[in-house]
Amino acid sequence: MGFLEVEDLKVHFPIKGGIFNRTVGHIKAVDGVSFSVEEGKTYGLVGESGSGKTTTGRAIIGLNDITSGNVTFEGKDITAKKSKTLDFRKDVQMIFQDPYSSLNPRKRVLDIIAEPIRNFEKLSKQEEKKRVQELLEIVNLSPESILKYPHEFSGGQRQRIGVARAIALRPKLIIADEPVSALDVSVQAQVLNFMKDIQEELNLTYLFISHDLGIVKHMCDDIAIMYKGRYVEQGTKHDIFNHPQHIYTKRLVAAIPDIDPGRRQEQFEYRREVQKEYEHSYDDYFDNEGLAYGLQSISDTHLVALPGKG
Ligand SMILES: Nc1ncnc2c1ncn2[C@@H]1O[C@H](COP(=O)(O)OP(=O)(O)OP(=O)(O)O)[C@@H](O)[C@H]1O
Ligand SMILES: [Mg+2]
Repeated sequence: MGFLEVEDLKVHFPIKGGIFNRTVGHIKAVDGVSFSVEEGKTYGLVGESGSGKTTTGRAIIGLNDITSGNVTFEGKDITAKKSKTLDFRKDVQMIFQDPYSSLNPRKRVLDIIAEPIRNFEKLSKQEEKKRVQELLEIVNLSPESILKYPHEFSGGQRQRIGVARAIALRPKLIIADEPVSALDVSVQAQVLNFMKDIQEELNLTYLFISHDLGIVKHMCDDIAIMYKGRYVEQGTKHDIFNHPQHIYTKRLVAAIPDIDPGRRQEQFEYRREVQKEYEHSYDDYFDNEGLAYGLQSISDTHLVALPGKG
């Protein structure tokens, strides 16, 4: 049994309509997703806007109801809301996408970071201050920061406050939902590298959500590509970047800019080739509703959504 196991997860949202405001259909935000995350590793969930990444993360932590499927964490079934014990609520934390809106602007850093601690532990004011300052040190912010308000920090600093808050209870798993997408590119690498550093120090496991395959390549051990609530492909970093099988994945991989200027022409041509293949073979890869097929395994680690044989 793995560290985090997600089995055939579905999260469907009702669509209300008509004069009686009845349920007239469902948005299948997540529609049958399975994966497992190993302890200490980073599992990347990639996909375009609306593909169901955030909904998956929120369902695991309990912010969205699960329509069907199973989630286990450290061998315990945590699918139902009421099964999310105190331990689970300590062990699993989330970092949110937007460091500008995810921190309460009217609270000082001390209170922002101490809030989760106060929910679980009874510390004296002195102990609490010391703990928050230790956390600030881990995220490379000065101890004086405790008296400041979020608006006094840059985006990158704010996201580090978010990280300090997320690690305040010594969690085991962090669901990081686009943790750097609201930041300048120059700051992104800093925050990402820092997330890697604390991963080793604190033995953290990450479920890392991003729409940016370049970032996922930098951060993740295993990767899944999501499209309209389903998996298109899943594999190790090597599988996805060196042997992408699904045309949708190939197109994403081809779009990552090459740092080497000497390879630009080559990449340009490759991209054109992949685009041609995409247009030519789209119907072979998606069903008549434009959805991905079920996954087939092509190696121990590598799964691809392909039409069934026969
Ligand atoms: N609470 C909700 N009620 C109804 N529909 C929802 C709700 N939350 C999400 N959705 C829908 O579910 C789908 C998946 O949304 P989700 O936020 O998971 O996508 P995402 O992959 O995180 O996208 P982005 O990259 O834009 O953050 C979208 O169609 C979205 O509109
Ligand atoms: Mg999202």
